[in-house]
Amino acid sequence: MTAFIMHHNERIFPDSWSFVPERWAERDGGMQGLERYMVSFSKGSRQCVGLSLAKAEISITLATLFHRYRDMELFDTSFERDVRLTNDMFLPQPSKESRGIRVVFK
Ligand code: HEM
Repeated sequence: MTAFIMHHNERIFPDSWSFVPERWAERDGGMQGLERYMVSFSKGSRQCVGLSLAKAEISITLATLFHRYRDMELFDTSFERDVRLTNDMFLPQPSKESRGIRVVFK
């Protein structure tokens, strides 16, 4: 079982390919039990020891980017080539032709 299979289980994450951040919103005092299905860092005694650092780095990086650059534009990026999973190299990878998701900062 990989994180990819878990995170695209439509029973747990309906419409899993869509950006639906509110699915993580707290409702009735709980996270709808979704947190237990978020396995990007694995789970249990061998889960990632860098989890908190990684989450902090992601938050700081995104906050800095969006704070400094209001005007960003995707550059030569397509969903099929650069986003869709085509190779499972233990971690999900897009097609071999992909140069990654590229953005122009204006
Ligand atoms: C987005 C960033 C990261 C992701 C998605 C991630 C994901 C993972 C996953 C899935 C595992 C378990 C691998 C397995 O099943 O054997 C793991 C283990 C580990 N990660 Fe991370 N990681 C991230 C960042 C980091 C950072 C920043 C550090 C350290 C500064 C780190 C240190 C480790 C270590 C030492 C282990 C081995 C833990 C053990 O086997 O007891 N990771 N990580």
